[in-house]
Amino acid sequence: MTTIDPKKPVLVTGATGYVAAWLIKRLLDEGITVHAAVRNPDSKKKTAHLDALAANSPGIIRYFKSDLLDMGSYEAAMEGCELVYHTASPFTSDFKDAQKDLIDPAQKGTANVLESAKKVAGVKRVVVTSSCAAIYTDAIDCTNAPNGIITEEIWNTTASLEYQPYSYSKTVAEQKAWEIAKSQSQWDLVTINPSFVMGPPLNPQATTSESFSILKQMGDGTFKTGAPKLGIGVVDVRDVAEAHYQAGFNPAAHGRYITSAHNTNFLEMSLALKDKFGAKFPIAKSAAPKWLLMLVGPFINKTLSRKFLRNNVNVAFNADNSKIKKELGLKFRPLQQTMEDGFQVLVDEKIV
Ligand SMILES: NC(=O)c1ccc[n+]([C@@H]2O[C@H](COP(=O)([O-])OP(=O)(O)OC[C@H]3O[C@@H](n4cnc5c(N)ncnc54)[C@H](OP(=O)(O)O)[C@@H]3O)[C@@H](O)[C@H]2O)c1
Repeated sequence: MTTIDPKKPVLVTGATGYVAAWLIKRLLDEGITVHAAVRNPDSKKKTAHLDALAANSPGIIRYFKSDLLDMGSYEAAMEGCELVYHTASPFTSDFKDAQKDLIDPAQKGTANVLESAKKVAGVKRVVVTSSCAAIYTDAIDCTNAPNGIITEEIWNTTASLEYQPYSYSKTVAEQKAWEIAKSQSQWDLVTINPSFVMGPPLNPQATTSESFSILKQMGDGTFKTGAPKLGIGVVDVRDVAEAHYQAGFNPAAHGRYITSAHNTNFLEMSLALKDKFGAKFPIAKSAAPKWLLMLVGPFINKTLSRKFLRNNVNVAFNADNSKIKKELGLKFRPLQQTMEDGFQVLVDEKIV
């Protein structure tokens, strides 16, 4: 049991991120002081939305300059904190060198933050934003899991530096986190393992999260001839923020938490947009044939290899979300609300 004093500041790494923004809003609304660790505290483009959140809430935000690959650079931000949220990690399919651009910042960055937490007296709990990607790579891994469903017991054994390196980066980063947690007794570790996060970004003009890129593709015509019936889990970004909040402040929180609301696929996600936006935007209304995807996929995006398509298209994703509902009382928004609220931001901001 770990009790966190809400009067003490709370560190959020990767504060400029899509997921972090909603977590910071949740903390500021509670009147908590947030230590926001960012790469470039002078970039107003990246932080103006956080300043606006702070201005409209009882909480306070303070910025600290930190980088995942700059060892010790999170220590100043951690001073005085009992609770550390480590959300920073690259989430993009636009990388050149998987080791340098994805795996090193994820794994060495996690070691950097958690080793500092061992040095800074007073840290009681660390919450790491891991991912369902640390549990599975492809929808077929759900089919192959015991009882056809992924749980917190399972680790990803199918991703590698060569195949789906983002999933590999999240797997080795979370493994590193547990290894460091076990090497000490000052703080406990809780991980939040979201599936694909969707819903409204608080900083739409500067968001580079892959979540946002996919949402844009649903409205820019990429899927106009059909969306792949590619099995995936989806969760609302606001529910992911609540999951983090509970993981930090619920004394009994422990271990890993699958944070996934819906076992769904890209076609269902597109169809959830049809009622509200289908008349004005080229939203997919049918499934893209698997043979066509196999033919063109590898030329569209390097992550859409034939192996990936074979293991995911027309294959159901299935995750067990009962632990977080039971232990942290999490309730999930309906898929339609998540998709519509997210897409509305793109419309309002003239991004689609
Ligand atoms: N979105 C999803 O579907 C999803 C699902 C499961 C798990 N997650 C996890 O959730 C976390 C946040 O992802 P997101 O979707 O919010 O993506 P995001 O908006 O791209 O946020 C990533 C954050 O990591 C920071 N970062 C990247 N490289 C860094 C480095 N070398 N040093 C310091 N900071 C660095 C970024 O800072 P800059 O702004 O300076 O680039 C940004 O604040 C990640 O750990 C991701 O793996 C996301």
